[in-house]
Amino acid sequence: MQKVALVTGAGRGIGRKICLELAENGYDIAGVDILLDQDNKDKGLPEVQQRVEGFDKKFLPIQADIAYLNNHPKILDSTLEKFGRIDVLVNNAGVAPEKRIDILETTPESYDRVLSINTRGAFFLTQKIAKHMIQQVGEETNSKSCIIFISSISVYVSSPSRPEYCISKAALSAAAKIFADRLAAYGINVYEVRPGIIQTDMTASVKEKYDKLIAEGLIPQKRWGLPKDVARAVASLARGDFAYSTGLVVEVSGGMHIQRL
Ligand SMILES: NC(=O)c1ccc[n+]([C@@H]2O[C@H](COP(=O)([O-])OP(=O)(O)OC[C@H]3O[C@@H](n4cnc5c(N)ncnc54)[C@H](O)[C@@H]3O)[C@@H](O)[C@H]2O)c1
Repeated sequence: MQKVALVTGAGRGIGRKICLELAENGYDIAGVDILLDQDNKDKGLPEVQQRVEGFDKKFLPIQADIAYLNNHPKILDSTLEKFGRIDVLVNNAGVAPEKRIDILETTPESYDRVLSINTRGAFFLTQKIAKHMIQQVGEETNSKSCIIFISSISVYVSSPSRPEYCISKAALSAAAKIFADRLAAYGINVYEVRPGIIQTDMTASVKEKYDKLIAEGLIPQKRWGLPKDVARAVASLARGDFAYSTGLVVEVSGGMHIQRL
């Protein structure tokens, strides 16, 4: 049976690499992104589509803002229409605050924006896809589905200049744990992948700052993380390498969780 993965934030960065890694691992992919320029084949979803098809796998580009819950039926329905099933959901889409501002000045607008995408959008999309997965598991013997949340080390690291991001990821981590608990009865495993400092467009504006911190030893494994580091962890979870470990948190941060003296 041809397996299918639904990946949000698929047009660039970590999400793009997750699509390619899963395609290489044999999945057809539905890739969701807020941006879609069909005329530009060099970037975004059209570029990812070409790369996925290079692995002889199918790719469905879906333009949708996951923050708007009324987009979620379109995401589910168009994926089912094209592929007939969903085996893996990767909640990857996420944003940083537009401006880094001290916690004493955080605006309600930025707080709501970040949480509506990173947390609320991912939570309700998962709720919708999980209900489909429950139905799918009920109809098939030996069916295995899984859901993966891309959180961040910001779950436990304090960044006073972007508290709304840290809060959004801490709440997402809680959502991953609770879905893991609830869905275990159906054989649907739920995991959290917690990236550290990963070289993507999201971190481009703070590259110099992080280059310096890394050179000074912030990360035990003394290098930037790459989208591939995260994508390989996701592929391993999707493949079932951690089949008896629902609720597992996989940190991909070069050891940033190690407290040092
Ligand atoms: N880069 C890092 O250092 C880092 C570290 C920890 C966690 N993360 C998390 O990994 C995920 C991917 O990050 P990235 O670095 O690849 O970011 P990125 O900004 O390079 O890519 C994010 C993608 O998500 C899409 N997107 C944004 N808002 C969306 C929405 N509302 N609906 C649908 N798509 C939307 C964007 O268009 C973009 O293609 C995010 O959840 C981020 O918080 C990143």
